[in-house]
Amino acid sequence: MDKRYFSDKVVEWYHTRKRNLPWRDTQDPYKIWLSEIILQQTRVAQGLPYYLRFIEKFPTVQALAAASEQEVLRLWQGLGYYTRARNLHKCAKEVVARFQGAFPDNFQTLKTLPGIGDYTAAAIASFAFRESVAVVDGNVFRVLARIFGIDTEINSPEGKKVFATLANELISTKNPDQHNQAIMEFGALYCTPGKPDCDTCTFATTCFAAKNELQDMLPVKTKA
Ligand code: ADE
Repeated sequence: MDKRYFSDKVVEWYHTRKRNLPWRDTQDPYKIWLSEIILQQTRVAQGLPYYLRFIEKFPTVQALAAASEQEVLRLWQGLGYYTRARNLHKCAKEVVARFQGAFPDNFQTLKTLPGIGDYTAAAIASFAFRESVAVVDGNVFRVLARIFGIDTEINSPEGKKVFATLANELISTKNPDQHNQAIMEFGALYCTPGKPDCDTCTFATTCFAAKNELQDMLPVKTKA
């Protein structure tokens, strides 16, 4: 499939079907970062009220950095994975101390901050600063494995490389922010793990898995 075709199609789909979520109406890296940390291992429906409470209580990274760890952990209560909350606080303090409260505007520098790995750095860099760097999460693995027919194991070092390489070849340089949101949303809402509605899919005639009835076999994951 032509790479430009894929990006145009998935972005077109996104504009007709996307959920309106508050962190999609902003280019503020602080709000984008906060939403991405909250949404790690957490569903949107569960994370949304936490996001709104955090923004209300700590409208800026300076406000979050100035809070006590106890205050941050109290607001985080119920989300679990408390290392995330501790790193959240640590990161806010570092952004203030090292960068005068301005989040770095590029993927490589973002990755030097606590709790920010490849996925989160790509999300912030593309959504807030429009850097053409692909997000690669479970949704992206599934969408690319099926549409392009890739059977490399997604939890192997080789798989991570293969999918990240393809994702970065596919990303639009024109609108990397929308491209990344679109592919994740498509995976979350449409190209779902069980019983995707392939008959009405925008990729029905071009998707490798749909054409070969391999939706249940892709992506491939080795058992631990
Ligand atoms: N899950 C993780 N990041 C997300 C985002 N930007 N939008 C919706 N769900 C998400």
